[in-house]
Amino acid sequence: MSCENVAVVGLQWGDEGKGKVVDALSRVCKYVVRFCGGANAGHTVVVGGERYALHLIPCGVLREGVTNVVGNGVAFDPTVAIEEIAGLRDRGVSIGPDNLLISAAAHVVMPWHRREDSLSEARLAGGKIGTTARGIGPCYADKARRSTAVRAADLLDATGLREKVRRIAEAKNTAFAALYEADPMDADAIADEFADYGRQIAPMVANTGAILRRAVAGEDRILFEGGQGSMLDVDHGTYPFVTSSAVTACGVPTGAGVPPSAVGQVVGLVKAYSTRVGAGPFPTEQDNEIGDRIRDRGREYGTTTGRPRRCGWLDAAALKYAADLCGAAEVALALLDVLSGFDEVKICTGYRAGGDPIEDYDAARLADVACDYETMEGWAEEITDARSFGDLPAAAQAYVGRIEQLIGRPVGLISVGPDREATIVHHTRVRGLS
Ligand code: GDP
Ligand code: IMO
Ligand code: MG
Repeated sequence: MSCENVAVVGLQWGDEGKGKVVDALSRVCKYVVRFCGGANAGHTVVVGGERYALHLIPCGVLREGVTNVVGNGVAFDPTVAIEEIAGLRDRGVSIGPDNLLISAAAHVVMPWHRREDSLSEARLAGGKIGTTARGIGPCYADKARRSTAVRAADLLDATGLREKVRRIAEAKNTAFAALYEADPMDADAIADEFADYGRQIAPMVANTGAILRRAVAGEDRILFEGGQGSMLDVDHGTYPFVTSSAVTACGVPTGAGVPPSAVGQVVGLVKAYSTRVGAGPFPTEQDNEIGDRIRDRGREYGTTTGRPRRCGWLDAAALKYAADLCGAAEVALALLDVLSGFDEVKICTGYRAGGDPIEDYDAARLADVACDYETMEGWAEEITDARSFGDLPAAAQAYVGRIEQLIGRPVGLISVGPDREATIVHHTRVRGLS
C-alpha cells in the first residue's frame, strides 16, 4: 500500500497559507506534526469567521480526534505554548494529553536564547538578519553545542534542571557580560519558573518518535505541518538570511523521528505572489506602489511580529527550485484573490547575472541577479466567492495554468480567501482534498 501521509511545506519565504491548508487536511488525518521551527511561526486558521493564530501548537488542534505533536525538531518555548494553550481553552478549544503531545527530545527555548537573539541582532547593526527575536537561532545553536542545551524531558526533573540551569546561566552570564555588557540572569529564578512549566506540561511530554513510528507501521495517517518556507531553510535557503532549522520536506524525517519513506505526498504551499519578512535577497520585490497594493489587499503584516511584509511578484525560478528540493508532488496556490484588480500580473521565469542566464539555481547568490519577467493579463473581478475552477475569470485561469507549466507540477488546490470554505479543489491527488 502506498504511503498516505502528507507533508505541507512552504516553497517561498514563509506565510504561504500553510495554516489554512493544514486545517483543511487535518479533517482526514489522525496526527498533525510540527517538525521544525518554533514560535517564530505564525499559522492562521479561520473557521466560520473566527481567526486563530497558532505559533507552536499544530493546526490540527481545531479538529476533534486529531493528535497534535510538537516534534523533536521543534524549538519548544514553554512560555509561548502555555499561553497559547490557555488562549485556545478560553475560546472553547479543549487541549490535553489526548490531543497534544510534546516530544521529550524537543529543545527548549530558554530566557538566554531570546536575550542573545535580541542582543546579537542589535550588535549586527546594518547586517541584521531581521529575526523574529524568539530565540530560535541561539536555541538551535545550543542544540548543536550539546553541553548548553535543555530538552523538554529536562523540565520534568526539577533537581537536575536547577543544577543544569545554574551551570548554563553562569556560562551565559559570563559571555553576555563580556560581549554585550549585559546584566546577569538569576539562575534560581529561571530554574523555578521552568520547573513550574515542566509540571504544567508533564502529562503531554512523550516519546513522540516511537508513537509516530507505530502510526507509520499501522493505518493512521500523519500530516506533517511545515514551518517557515524553503527559501528560509538553514542549508538550502538564502543563507545567512535564513532561519536555523531544516524546513523543507527533507527536514521531516529528522524533525519528527520517522523514516524518509514515511513522508508521503509533499504538497508545496505557494502564495500567488511573493512576500518576505526580515532582511535578505528578494529578487522580485516591488518596493513601490505595486508592493504596497499587494500588502494592503493581502493584509501582509507578520502573524508573529506584526512587521509589514516585503511584497513582490511570483518567482517561478525560486519555486521550481524549492519544489524540486522538496519533491513536491503538487502545489497549493493561496491568496489568488489578492491579485484581483491588477491590469497585468508578472511572473519571474529566470534570472540573469551580468546579462547571462543563470542555469543552476543558487539560493545563496541572489543578491545581484536581474529577473526575466513574463507579463500576463490581470483580472478585475473579486474571486473570493469562486468555488470551482470554472468560476474564475479566464485571465486567472491562465495565470494558474502558467504556474503549473513553469514549475512542472499540478496546482492541486486554490485558495481564494482566508476562510475554510474559500477553497477550489483543482488537480489534487491527495485523498481528503479531492
Ligand atoms: P502560514 O504561516 O503559511 O500559515 O501563513 P500566515 O497565517 O502567516 O499568513 C497567511 C495569511 O493569509 C493569514 O492571514 C491567512 O488568514 C490569510 N490567507 C490564507 N489563505 C488566504 C487566501 O486564499 N486569501 C486571502 N485573502 N487570505 C488568505
Ligand atoms: P511561518 O511558519 C515568515 C524569518 C524571519 C527572519 C528569518 C530568521 O509563519 O511561515 P528567526 O526568528 O527564525 O531566526 O528569523 O526567518 N521567519 C519567518 N518569516 N514566516 C515564518 O514562519 C518565519 N519564521 C522565521 O522573519 O527573516
Ligand atoms: Mg506565518
